[in-house]
Amino acid sequence: MFELTGKTAVITGGGSGIGKATAMLFARRGATVHILDIGEAACAQVVREIREQGGQASAHACDVTRQADVHASFAAIGPVGILINNAGVAHVGKADNTGEEDFDRVIGVNVKGAYNCLHAAIPRLKENGGGVIINMASVAAWVAVPERFAYSAAKGAVMAMTLSVAKDYVQEGIRCNSISPGRVHTPFVDGFLARNYPGQEAEMFERLSKTQPIGRMARPEEVAALALYLCSDEAAFITGSDYPIDGGFITLNA
Ligand SMILES: NC(=O)c1ccc[n+]([C@@H]2O[C@H](COP(=O)([O-])OP(=O)(O)OC[C@H]3O[C@@H](n4cnc5c(N)ncnc54)[C@H](O)[C@@H]3O)[C@@H](O)[C@H]2O)c1
Repeated sequence: MFELTGKTAVITGGGSGIGKATAMLFARRGATVHILDIGEAACAQVVREIREQGGQASAHACDVTRQADVHASFAAIGPVGILINNAGVAHVGKADNTGEEDFDRVIGVNVKGAYNCLHAAIPRLKENGGGVIINMASVAAWVAVPERFAYSAAKGAVMAMTLSVAKDYVQEGIRCNSISPGRVHTPFVDGFLARNYPGQEAEMFERLSKTQPIGRMARPEEVAALALYLCSDEAAFITGSDYPIDGGFITLNA
């Protein structure tokens, strides 16, 4: 079960966190992994680690917000069977104190970046005779999270795009689902704490951990395991769904 042998997977934001854990796991399950990440060095490092564990991987330095660059990366990759739209950035703010530049950046990476990769990948998935897409959403698409205005807008769009794509390509054998993690302990969270709560990182880490009723953050590998299941043939009946993986954040916090 859960074998990806013979499949080619493109993973955006695979240089760090959830994307890295997914790239490492997919390669262990037999996939040829292509990592698209704006961070060239991190991306190359993950590829080295995958090759050291006997897997197949390539790094593609790419800013997913730039459609021409995304198309160039996909042209270099060739046939594709799996797309993981995972690259994302966060921002803390309410509607009236989120500046235009931050709003555009968050929508640019999380929404336009996902669209650019869908635009490049879907023709290849069709040529492949079908395939699987996972979009990384968030609990912020489901419930109100304080001071996440732009981020919530972006992740709501990611979830709605998932439904749209699942509907439009269901006859062509393309399955499309999203994953909505609660807090996951990755550099994304550490960077966020350092930027927004300097000097209070440890205290805020504890506070954020406790917002999951299970009492901790997820490990990136736990999200990667869900992505593996959704991309495997065992999940062949699943499309147009969102999967929270949140330690009870959405349903148990009331
Ligand atoms: N960590 C969490 O608590 C959490 C919770 C819910 C959802 N998510 C989502 O999961 C995804 C991955 O998060 P993570 O915690 O692993 O983040 P991370 O910061 O550890 O990794 C994100 C990766 O995306 C890359 N990236 C950023 N902008 C890019 C761009 N323009 N083009 C290409 N690559 C780019 C970064 O270089 C980095 O390698 C994101 O979409 C995030 O919104 C994270």
